[in-house]
Amino acid sequence: MQDKIIVALDVSPEKAREIVAKTKDLTAIYKMGPVLWHQWGAESLSFFKDQGVRVMIDFKFHDIPSVAAASLVCLAGHQGSEVIWGVTLHALGGFSMLRTAVIERDKLPKDRKFLLFGVTVLTSMREKDLYRVGINRTVDAQVKKLSMLAQDAGLDGVVASAKEISAIRKVCGKDQLVLVPGISLDSNRRRDLDQKRAATPREAFELGADHLIIGRDIYQAEDPRERLEMMIEAIRVDKILH
Ligand code: C5P
Repeated sequence: MQDKIIVALDVSPEKAREIVAKTKDLTAIYKMGPVLWHQWGAESLSFFKDQGVRVMIDFKFHDIPSVAAASLVCLAGHQGSEVIWGVTLHALGGFSMLRTAVIERDKLPKDRKFLLFGVTVLTSMREKDLYRVGINRTVDAQVKKLSMLAQDAGLDGVVASAKEISAIRKVCGKDQLVLVPGISLDSNRRRDLDQKRAATPREAFELGADHLIIGRDIYQAEDPRERLEMMIEAIRVDKILH
């Protein structure tokens, strides 16, 4: 089963159950952020476990080092947490926060460990949005800077748009995983989404993504299973999948 496409479930628990039931033979990893967690809570982890799939927890932690690390430890303490494949932190939280998170993650029992990913620049942001928060450099330069920071701190990878993959590879090499949101099969639809630095699944893989994170393009489709099959087919043609 492929794990290249991670299905983001920013939906209700009912809808999440329905989508997992329809697609769990097509993908090995789903993503849960605050939208689903706040409706369902930690017991959702047992659901994913029973379905035989992994889950990425996308809470994008951004806090003082001790609190960010303690949050990770609490997450790992939930029943069913062995199903957690990865967790996100904002790389902008700084070296100390990232490094402390890695150190605390490494102390967890082997079956509770997960990968850690640094969110670089949200795919909904453009250069002008960076300027408005006081960052006076290009998106590429900021993503590069934060990717190097995440790598230095020992994170397993970063989250960035397809447009920055080659810049990340230049500074971090091939070892850092690059997870790419902001994906849609349909270029008209991509313009409607709040994702500003977007790409199709094929474009993102051609540019060197390790995993894609795809939400609305799948869960808002009339037939989410068919939509996911189309995406898998699109990347199979490129021999990303065999
Ligand atoms: O619906 P859509 O495919 O745009 O969802 C993308 C998902 O990826 C959302 O769950 C969003 O929280 C997440 N994400 C993102 N940009 C980042 C990091 C995570 O869109 N930089």
